[in-house]
Amino acid sequence: MKHILVTGGAGFIGSHVVDELLLVGFKVRILDNLGPPTHNGALPEWVNKKAEFVQGDVRSKEDWRKALRGINGVVHLASYMDYHLDFSTYIRTNIESVALLFELIVEEKLPIQKIVAASSQSVYGQGKYQCETHGIVYPPMRSEVQLAARQWEVTCPECHKPIVALPETESDEPSPQIPYGISKLASEKFLFNLGRQYGVPSVALRYSIVLGPRQSFRHFYSGALRSFAVDVLNNQSIQMNEDGGQTHDFVHVRDIAHAHLTVLTDHRADFECFNVGIGKSIRVIDLAKMVAEESGVPFNPSFNNRYRVGNIRYTPMNIDKLRGLGWEPKYTVRDAVKDYLQWVRQFNGLKEALEKTYNEMARDGILKTGK
Ligand SMILES: NC(=O)c1ccc[n+]([C@@H]2O[C@H](COP(=O)([O-])OP(=O)(O)OC[C@H]3O[C@@H](n4cnc5c(N)ncnc54)[C@H](O)[C@@H]3O)[C@@H](O)[C@H]2O)c1
Repeated sequence: MKHILVTGGAGFIGSHVVDELLLVGFKVRILDNLGPPTHNGALPEWVNKKAEFVQGDVRSKEDWRKALRGINGVVHLASYMDYHLDFSTYIRTNIESVALLFELIVEEKLPIQKIVAASSQSVYGQGKYQCETHGIVYPPMRSEVQLAARQWEVTCPECHKPIVALPETESDEPSPQIPYGISKLASEKFLFNLGRQYGVPSVALRYSIVLGPRQSFRHFYSGALRSFAVDVLNNQSIQMNEDGGQTHDFVHVRDIAHAHLTVLTDHRADFECFNVGIGKSIRVIDLAKMVAEESGVPFNPSFNNRYRVGNIRYTPMNIDKLRGLGWEPKYTVRDAVKDYLQWVRQFNGLKEALEKTYNEMARDGILKTGK
């Protein structure tokens, strides 16, 4: 396997995957439409010049056909993300793209030896919790009434007492609740079922929250880190959603990129899905504190009862399965914060981009402020 196609290779994670593959001697072609929100039609200067670039759309069979010529491995990252109201675009981009790839593999008997596709922690939905009285429970999403009343905690669906989030493992029953997560789970099902039927070893990587340089600052909601960095760079106090007590697994993009190489080159990964994260939960308020410390400013967060509808408060992740293949996260969350801050400082218009995002989210009823 020498020639790898990376879809979405001009994006945040994709461009790091491209660097990693080129470094170990693969020949790489990128298929990317350079569309909004990530791009404005121009190829970013950080995209590795040693990779061949094909501008095209993963929703187009013809674009796939051109891009797949001479290719024997695919890393499929191009995707529609976040919380948008054009729900059908999730289906067309995230599910149909996998179906089109397999149509071409079957029709043209393409010699594809491996497919690695980006999935997400979002497939687990709200996740599983431990209740002292009722054991393992699966609470529903927190209601808007609850969030508006500033009751941030997730409680037992039986006794309504506080419960503890348990790390998601790959053997857990996925239960995505938003169109993005549902489309990612469906794309995994296409990948594994068609992969097995047509003998194409396939792998899905379920990333946690990825941080680091080249992260789009035009995306809809993605990025506590972006939001904190913009506040700090504009000499404003850091605005927290909820009470800052949300905890997530934040992983450096270079560790994510390396995970692709691990599963691409190891047959033990075939037809498996893997969580990829750092394996530890960090409070969002501690992430904000790191941003302030690394920027050399005092940490005075402000709380305005702001919350994101559908946000999952705790997302711990178990990464032992990927560790079993010899992969290990090498970077800390602080490394990711430092690397991101160093990169993002060079751009103008960050504040305007963030305000635009927040205005759109408020317009669509996704970002709200409680009483
Ligand atoms: N960033 C995260 O924290 C995170 C977490 C979980 C999963 N993921 C997944 O990782 C993958 C990469 O995400 P990212 O964070 O690098 O985002 P990104 O927006 O920076 O990169 C995505 C790239 O895909 C391209 N693209 C989008 N739609 C396309 C289309 N229809 N045809 C061709 N190209 C298209 C974009 O132009 C962009 O360059 C996605 O599949 C995403 O769902 C990301």
